[in-house]
Amino acid sequence: MRVLGIETSCDETAVAIYDSKAGLLADTLYSQVELHAQYGGVVPELASRDHVRKILPLITQVMAKADTSQSDLGGIAYTSGPGLVGALMVGASVGRALAFAWSVPAIGVHHMEGHLLAPMLEDKPPAFPFVALLVSGGHTQLVMVSAIGQYQLLGESLDDAAGEAFDKTAKMLGLDYPGGPNVARVAERGDISRFDFPRPMVNRPGLDFSFSGLKTFTLNTAAAHRDENGQLSDQLQADIAAAFQEAVADTLAIKCRRALRQTGVKNLVIAGGVSANQRLRVVLEAMVNKEGAELFYARAQFCTDNGAMIAYAGCQRLLAGQQQDLAINVRPRWPMDELLPLAN
Ligand code: KG4
Ligand code: ZN
Repeated sequence: MRVLGIETSCDETAVAIYDSKAGLLADTLYSQVELHAQYGGVVPELASRDHVRKILPLITQVMAKADTSQSDLGGIAYTSGPGLVGALMVGASVGRALAFAWSVPAIGVHHMEGHLLAPMLEDKPPAFPFVALLVSGGHTQLVMVSAIGQYQLLGESLDDAAGEAFDKTAKMLGLDYPGGPNVARVAERGDISRFDFPRPMVNRPGLDFSFSGLKTFTLNTAAAHRDENGQLSDQLQADIAAAFQEAVADTLAIKCRRALRQTGVKNLVIAGGVSANQRLRVVLEAMVNKEGAELFYARAQFCTDNGAMIAYAGCQRLLAGQQQDLAINVRPRWPMDELLPLAN
């Protein structure tokens, strides 16, 4: 089955075509980063309008790239939540309407399920069961994954998501939106031994996270080292970025190790924008090696938002016979454990 996937939950308009036999045929993405950069974060109404402008040309482009016409499609998948409601509505309306016009089934996909399954697009996909660490701009969750659609939440952030903490740290350090990749870039020339940042909640039992204290610690450290003009030297900026990144990576690794031990599972999947972070991958790789476990993640462009993960997840659900009725429904908030298992 060949499926067109559409992702418009936030600030990326992304489309892809996945074929259950041939694999990923084409994917393309338009990032709104420049549009939102001047505001220091995503402006929802501008995001929706820009999705409207970009989505149809991108679909035409990806269909041509994949040498696919409407009659080759077995279905259309679109992100139906969680995310910004207006942005979601664009992808859902276009996806649902095209599926109606082309007489193929449509399926609304959970954005985080898309992220969670993105490593399935790689040459060496993880086998079930696995523990998944979902780390994006809006979510930090540990999930026990027994099969597609069988998700048990093990723990989550009580306040900021990991990606959000990266984005806020970037702002404090005077780095541009989107913050995560910029903090990571600056941290490369930082000295990780200069500052010792706290590892939040690691001494408490359980698998929940909290990043707001770390955020305050970063803010105070930066404030204590600014010169009389309120500026941070390049070296201080790099040293703080490195200390922050190290604290996040360590904290995530400690909780992942606890989740692996608690569940007895040997496969760890990391997904979502922050899983593109190289330092996090190195720290987690060292941890799983010690535990006799294995780490799986998607290539960097499929860690952040993309259409391929939506096409893939939608294809699995359509193959299992699931599909959407004619209503255009989106869910800005949508707990993942409400999802249906595949076989029903
Ligand atoms: O999954 P994603 O693209 O969108 C959401 O579903 O939220 O994640 C975006 C988040 C942003 O907070 C961004 O700063 C962060 O992922 N991010 C990173 C890196 N690349 C993206 N954080 C740390 N290091 C990176 N290399
Ligand atoms: Zn995402």
